[in-house]
Amino acid sequence: QLALQTEVFGRKAIIMQSTPSTQGEVQQLADEGVSEGAVVLAEEQTNGRGRYGRRWYSPPGKGIWMSILLRPQQSLRNTPQLTLLTGLAVCRAIRSFTGVDAGIKWPNDVLVNGRKICGILMESALEDHELRYCIAGIGVDVNFDKQDYPEELSPIATSLQIETGKTVDRTLLAAAILTELEQLYDMYQKQGFNVIAALWEALSVSLHRDIKVSNAHGIVEGMALGIDSSGALIVQKKDGERITVFSGEISLTD
Ligand code: BTN
Repeated sequence: QLALQTEVFGRKAIIMQSTPSTQGEVQQLADEGVSEGAVVLAEEQTNGRGRYGRRWYSPPGKGIWMSILLRPQQSLRNTPQLTLLTGLAVCRAIRSFTGVDAGIKWPNDVLVNGRKICGILMESALEDHELRYCIAGIGVDVNFDKQDYPEELSPIATSLQIETGKTVDRTLLAAAILTELEQLYDMYQKQGFNVIAALWEALSVSLHRDIKVSNAHGIVEGMALGIDSSGALIVQKKDGERITVFSGEISLTD
């Protein structure tokens, strides 16, 4: 199996036993001026962070808890594209490394058999309304057993060990994710978002399905038609009206 095949991503990597959150570690490195592609991995996070201020359960040795520093050329407006790109990279790495049939739920949850196996948290640092850097946080449930999940997670989460019946090498999988991420990121910087959007749509589990979107504006039901050039989700409501959803969470209802 192939390890890290990157020029930049993960070439500076810090592996920690325990930290509150790898996001905070990378933020510190970024503020010290460390260059793009620096990575922090932790065996355990004691205060792992999820989207919408939620906590991310990150027990020792069970997953990949990793944050990567990005310093994209693009403007702030394009960070949703980076979010989709990161989910796509993880999904492709999981599929090629383990053969598990993983898919992506907009914007960037990676699911297997309807259960979440990976979550992504993209955080941006701004200065005078300009993008200074982004931190891509990736949490993959790798070697959880069914019994390892607390009650509230066991119906909605799964791990690669549960799906394959085998333990999976976290180091090699992390290397595969970084390799995939660097390739897609290069493609994105050189060719733009359209190629990424097509690859993303091919692995999406939410397109052409009835969905419910909830965000700050409320709840909308409809059918997901695709993503637009900014990475937003296009939804056709029951009354036929088409709307564009820039953020939020979706659930599949069909
Ligand atoms: C979500 O689906 O809500 C996003 C979860 C993101 C978890 C990862 S684990 C590594 C990085 N450090 C954190 O504190 N969070 C992200």
